[in-house]
Amino acid sequence: MKVQLKGDAICTLFLVIALCSLLYSQLEHLALAGNKEQAHKKPSSTQRIFPDPQAPGRYSQEEVIVARPRIIITKKAEVDDYSQTTTVSPVTYSTFDFKSYLLNKDKRNFKLLINQPKKCRRTPGGPFLLIAIKSVVEDFDRREIVRKTWGREGLVHGAQVQRVFLLGIPKNKTALATWETLIHQESLTYRDILLWDFMDTFFNLTLKELNFLNWANEFCSNVNFIFKGDNDVFVNVENIIDFLERRDPTEDLFVGDIIYNAHPIRVRKSKYYIPETMYGLGMYPAYAGGGGFLLSSQTMKKLSEACKEVELFPIDDVFLGMCLQRINLKPVLHEGFKTFGIVKPSAAPHLQTFEPCFYKDLMVVHSLKVPEIWLMWNLLHSPRLSCTQKKQVKKPFQWKKKTKMVTEAATS
Ligand SMILES: *[C@@H]1O[C@H](CO)[C@@H](O)[C@H](O)[C@H]1NC(C)=O
Ligand SMILES: *[C@@H]1O[C@H](CO)[C@@H](O)[C@H](O)[C@H]1NC(C)=O
Repeated sequence: MKVQLKGDAICTLFLVIALCSLLYSQLEHLALAGNKEQAHKKPSSTQRIFPDPQAPGRYSQEEVIVARPRIIITKKAEVDDYSQTTTVSPVTYSTFDFKSYLLNKDKRNFKLLINQPKKCRRTPGGPFLLIAIKSVVEDFDRREIVRKTWGREGLVHGAQVQRVFLLGIPKNKTALATWETLIHQESLTYRDILLWDFMDTFFNLTLKELNFLNWANEFCSNVNFIFKGDNDVFVNVENIIDFLERRDPTEDLFVGDIIYNAHPIRVRKSKYYIPETMYGLGMYPAYAGGGGFLLSSQTMKKLSEACKEVELFPIDDVFLGMCLQRINLKPVLHEGFKTFGIVKPSAAPHLQTFEPCFYKDLMVVHSLKVPEIWLMWNLLHSPRLSCTQKKQVKKPFQWKKKTKMVTEAATS
């Protein structure tokens, strides 16, 4: 009996030791493999966008956990905007399938289901400015308000302006069953719809960017300048025309709300999460916030060629930044582009009144509701608008100034 127990104990001990050594050797092997991969992934000086093209779809759980959260975005011009962007960007678990994205990354040219081939041929010499607006089929009311306000076609300060909306196939076709009829009717009525045969999702905006540049190169090469933006912005087209009138469309021009030194977000929870397997470098090239930016005809043509050579990247703004880097063009920051919205004092929401004179000096303001766009446009175009106190309204949302004004008002 005793002998048997002793034998069992020895046996168990032996098994445990064997198991431990096996585990240890496995761990060592994993660590080695990991190190190798790390060394392999060092960004090369040639700035390859995908560090490991041999195995583009590979990303394991370990890598994701190891990746440390980094500072999200630091804007050179306005540190104030930083807090705004972090609160605005939705924090949802990324359901993005990087693997299938990378597998399908060569599918990048999609059929144009609705075209406006004569858009830029109606006026001799072509339009001075083409306004290209990213929209989704469901946003009918946004397109309507843009058509009625800042996106009007015709002469603005003597310059010919044309408009197109950039659309894909709605993801949820049951949400708006009549979408096809609607879009065809809109196209017939306004002649401003471009519809491509890809699913209109956030991560497919890069496809919209690419296919629009190709379209512009093919059907609108006679344009002088292009404004490209979202459908929830307010654009002061008059200011843009004035700004562009002094520029040469045959020279490079790319102006907007430029973001410098942005780091890829390695936090899985973020909407903008990018694993290192997809982008290995620590920093993105300078890029323009997608809310709105300007480019010349010359730059459009160059970009349309350059973007063909760049691997698809799921964040469209950054993707365009990569194309700019490829043609060695530095995007220019302009203070008039507020694509992260205007900073408002959150502690005093009653101060968020519209100040049209403030908007008068801007070019693009992001994140506005439909009635706000309507109101702003109408206030700015009111004959009664006079902005005499220019100095005071330059920064109407400044904390100190406003508090003073409120206390003054309260005491008077
Ligand atoms: C599509 O939209 C309909 C109506 O809004 C909604 O009931 C349904 O859940 C949506 N489907 C998906 C897959 O989101
Ligand atoms: C992009 O569009 C294509 C074509 O419709 C679709 O297969 C793909 O799933 C979409 N990708 C994303 C990330 O939504």
